[in-house]
Amino acid sequence: MKAAMYSKNGSPEVLEYRDAPDPTLGPDQVLIRVKAISIEGGDLLNRRLVPPPSFPHIGGYQAAGIIEATGSDVTGLSVGQHVVAFNWAGSHAELFCVPTHYVYSLPESLDFELASTIPVPFGTADDSLFEFGGLAAGETVLIQGAAGGVGIAAVQLAGRAGATVIGTSSSDERLSRLRSLGMDHGINYRSEDIAERALELTGGKGVDLVVDLAGGNAVDDLFKAVRYRGRIAVVGASSGDLPSFGFFDIIRKSLTLAGVSFGREMHLPRVHRMLDGLIDEVATGKLHMPIDRTFPLSEAAAAHWYAEEAHPFGRVLMIP
Ligand SMILES: NC(=O)c1ccc[n+]([C@@H]2O[C@H](COP(=O)([O-])OP(=O)(O)OC[C@H]3O[C@@H](n4cnc5c(N)ncnc54)[C@H](OP(=O)(O)O)[C@@H]3O)[C@@H](O)[C@H]2O)c1
Repeated sequence: MKAAMYSKNGSPEVLEYRDAPDPTLGPDQVLIRVKAISIEGGDLLNRRLVPPPSFPHIGGYQAAGIIEATGSDVTGLSVGQHVVAFNWAGSHAELFCVPTHYVYSLPESLDFELASTIPVPFGTADDSLFEFGGLAAGETVLIQGAAGGVGIAAVQLAGRAGATVIGTSSSDERLSRLRSLGMDHGINYRSEDIAERALELTGGKGVDLVVDLAGGNAVDDLFKAVRYRGRIAVVGASSGDLPSFGFFDIIRKSLTLAGVSFGREMHLPRVHRMLDGLIDEVATGKLHMPIDRTFPLSEAAAAHWYAEEAHPFGRVLMIP
């Protein structure tokens, strides 16, 4: 098969489009003929920062396609079925081999491109807001990094749950697109002070919950923006910098910090039920994920560059 792979960490140029052996199918796995690959924020961080476990390494968390073969122990999934799947690596290829507990069925009416964007962004957003963040109707949430895949999902899920949604992005144009998805207030993190604006918008009280998708230097502002006894869901570091937290900031405000590692829960029956519902809502147009641009997999380096540097709104896809 053909795949996009890398042997060392670095900028998108480390990705090479090459021949690779077809994956070997285990007894409880399915082999998927990939139709569309969504580039996840985590794919960019992994390529840049996480040493590949073996060389060359085929990265990538998520892809949608058609089951081409099933392992000897597989029940409930069959050849020809349309699915979207997660794995810790391997989606940037023509064939994606995945344990059955990371496979989610698709309605045939849903196209593979849109389907490929669903599980990690929508599931992470849902868990960060509700399972770990405890968001309730009437509360205010600040979504730091609202214009990325997880952020766009979080804006919609928080808004329809009856929360007041504040989101940050790098441009006013992106903030206005987020408003059309249900965001109440936007903060341009390049030209405005996040903490000052969040306090102003909450009458000086501070937000109930922060969902931090960006990490980096702004973490200090997020601690100022959250209320006494507020919660922070620590989810991502799309700014490229891993922050460290102020010990006394957490004590002084009696904060609750919740780390979120959605991939570690994606095999659970509760997550399968949640994702089945979210897939249905995307398929029926109740939830949206804009697709900014599509590249052939052979141009994986250009696709990663675009996802990382061009500030896409929504997902960047690759097609094998
Ligand atoms: N813990 C988990 O289980 C989990 C699951 C999924 C994802 N993640 C992580 O969550 C993060 C977001 O994922 P994603 O898929 O949404 O990424 P993405 O689609 O690549 O979007 C990242 C967004 O971050 C924003 N951003 C970048 N630098 C920023 C800064 N300094 N301040 C505020 N916003 C900034 C960008 O917004 P602008 O373009 O407006 O600048 C961009 O839209 C990634 O780090 C990913 O690894 C974690």
